[in-house]
Amino acid sequence: MALTITALHPLFAAEIGGVDANAALAPAVVAALAEAIDRYAVLILRDQTLTDEQQIAFATYFGPPEINIGAHRAANQRRLSRPEMADVSNINPQNEVHRREDARRMFNLGNMLWHTDSSFRNPPGCLSFLYAHAAPSRGGETEFADLRAAYDALGEETKADIANLRAEHSIMHSRGILGFTEFSESERAALPPVIQPVVRVHPGSLRKTLYLASHASHIAGWPVPEGRLLLRDLIEFATKREFVFVHRWRAGDLVIWDNRCTLHRGRPYPIGERRDLRRVTTADQTAMTEGAA
Ligand code: OGA
Ligand code: MN
Repeated sequence: MALTITALHPLFAAEIGGVDANAALAPAVVAALAEAIDRYAVLILRDQTLTDEQQIAFATYFGPPEINIGAHRAANQRRLSRPEMADVSNINPQNEVHRREDARRMFNLGNMLWHTDSSFRNPPGCLSFLYAHAAPSRGGETEFADLRAAYDALGEETKADIANLRAEHSIMHSRGILGFTEFSESERAALPPVIQPVVRVHPGSLRKTLYLASHASHIAGWPVPEGRLLLRDLIEFATKREFVFVHRWRAGDLVIWDNRCTLHRGRPYPIGERRDLRRVTTADQTAMTEGAA
């Protein structure tokens, strides 16, 4: 069956038909998908059947998967064995829904702030591949914002003002926003802040894009409150409804997004219901960043 592309939003996001993500992909199919990612930034593939290994193999066609930051956790704290897998679910290794106060649940609640994956790492995240084994009966959507369209819509003065700014990104910052501060010394040492540009050229489309995230704590060289306010303003602007596409999950959905030019966030859902989402993210090796001073 031929690959089909159906736009889902006026600016970005498309549904892909005719691709079995668990089969070997012909080079022409990989190229067509890569081109669609560059154009649409968010792709939805429905009715997929994937094991963790197959999901990792699919992502690997598009780049080297990063090792997830949860991989260092003790084996009995981890439900998924492959270190490339981010467990975005609300399920513990005993296959029960997390208790309300579970630290892994607190950590994953940070995904409900607008962010882009692994902007706090070096290299940062490139493409994310999020697959649903189970979805709640209501809620639990993932929202995406197009940062290229948001950049285009900025006033010329703002574009000039932010052209050369750089922001410091850290996972401690984004988790701290919600009051989650349970990081060990070794975690802090393993995840030092990194500096990222606020405006970049998106390599896939050669369009200018904002690069923002809840992980961005302040602007390098600026007083912290001033930089934090600017980052909040930019995220508020970039996530106006006209720039946002909402994905409503069904089991079997595989969603791919480009972290270099989008923001995303999860939405709430009933606390007792299973939401089993698992993510693989490739590393953006072309965008190695400086460490923070
Ligand atoms: C992620 C993420 C949001 C969600 O997997 O990176 O942010 O809706 N997920 O679970
Ligand atoms: Mn994320």
